[in-house]
Amino acid sequence: MARKGQADALAFFGATGDLAYKQIFPALQAMVKDGFLDVPVVGVAKAGWGIEQLRERARQSIEEHGGVDEAAFSRLLELLDYVDGDYGDLRTFTELREKLGSARNPLHYLAIPPSMFAEVAEQLKVSRCAEGARIVVEKPFGRNLQTAEHLNRTLHDVFPETSIYRIDHYLGKEATQNIEYVRFANTFLEPIWNRDYVASVQVTMAEAFGVKGRGRFYEEAGTIRDVIQNHMLQVVALLAQDAPVPHDEESGRDARASVLKAMRPLKPADCVRGQYDGYKDEDGVAPDSTVETYAAVRCHVDNWRWAGVPFTIRAGKDLPVTSTEVFVQLKRPPQRIFDAIKREEANYVRFRIGPDVAVAVGIRAKTSGDGMDGECVELRLVHETSKDLAPYTLLLHNAMIGERELFARQDSVEAAWRVVDDVLDDATPVHPYAPGTWGPIEADALLPRGQRWHDPLATEPHD
Ligand code: BG6
Repeated sequence: MARKGQADALAFFGATGDLAYKQIFPALQAMVKDGFLDVPVVGVAKAGWGIEQLRERARQSIEEHGGVDEAAFSRLLELLDYVDGDYGDLRTFTELREKLGSARNPLHYLAIPPSMFAEVAEQLKVSRCAEGARIVVEKPFGRNLQTAEHLNRTLHDVFPETSIYRIDHYLGKEATQNIEYVRFANTFLEPIWNRDYVASVQVTMAEAFGVKGRGRFYEEAGTIRDVIQNHMLQVVALLAQDAPVPHDEESGRDARASVLKAMRPLKPADCVRGQYDGYKDEDGVAPDSTVETYAAVRCHVDNWRWAGVPFTIRAGKDLPVTSTEVFVQLKRPPQRIFDAIKREEANYVRFRIGPDVAVAVGIRAKTSGDGMDGECVELRLVHETSKDLAPYTLLLHNAMIGERELFARQDSVEAAWRVVDDVLDDATPVHPYAPGTWGPIEADALLPRGQRWHDPLATEPHD
């Protein structure tokens, strides 16, 4: 039974697809197991399948991603139904409306390519499936500012903004939530979290693998669209935002949107793109492709708190390690009283977002002995190794209960496109780099003078 404010059925489009396989079925089982899902669940796709095939697919998906919990899984199978049909055919949607039964507030999850969003939204409207409903859409939300604005208008023809849930799974990660939590649950960071004390901020999202058979998708996206416009800019927003106001459900989203709106649009000189050698041989990739598999950008948050502080972001495939890490370098003490501090590495705050979760502060402390010599010591505030934290379970659960905070709102999605719009596609040259290296050397020029890119391997957990 659905509680008040809670969706009373869940339909997911793209039920036979990759995202459903990797994320949605495991999330559904987890929600059943936690007692959060006990309403009809209807998968929709066009595969010529019946319910038995979908059930089998669900089992395989969960076996491969987390493991089957027999009690929760059999309950999920009782809840699960299936509609096979074309999204262009109204009958698919009338059948869905029948399967939704007495549900008055269904949640429709569009795990399908964005080019189909408009058509599906329209069909949901005509078939009356949209009445009282919410909609969840996956990224990428548009291809640039113009198409994102157009898509927003199209969805708003059917759903009000408060019923649209745009997924950015980085917002559902335990580690990104920890950025906001550590900042605002303590008093020690906030007084120094500004241009007076912070010298620079670096965000690295490194993946030690290539496009893994997703060449066709990647050709349409490239790193800037795939992870910078969304995941990385949302991480910057969490890092740079002001404190949200308690008891105001839009306040967290207002705070993030205000950072994104303050970000200066990138110019070609602020961006370096790279492509790993061998990318052009991947399936689905054009032999003369200029799509980037690496991008580094230099951003500015033009507001009172951050004016003048460089925020550099780099993200790429086939780099030396898989790790996403934020490195906040604090300014030096005003005078050097002690030993010559040779390296800049102390005096920082570090958030590791994946694959493990860490929050750490690097300080210099005196080494024991006669002299006033020091060394860099890292204080670990939080450190959890590779726990299976599942952002999709949290996000789907939140969408079901109508909790919008962790979803991207129209204004912040559009503001993020505004930041990257002038460096998309071939606005800048693409430089080759060897797999397993840190990308093109040209990216070093984006850093403030004398600074190096922070190497997440240097702060790899040693215990
Ligand atoms: C996805 C991108 O949104 O995020 C992928 O499409 C990327 O290219 C993935 O690999 C990274 O997510 P995570 O949670 O593994 O860091």
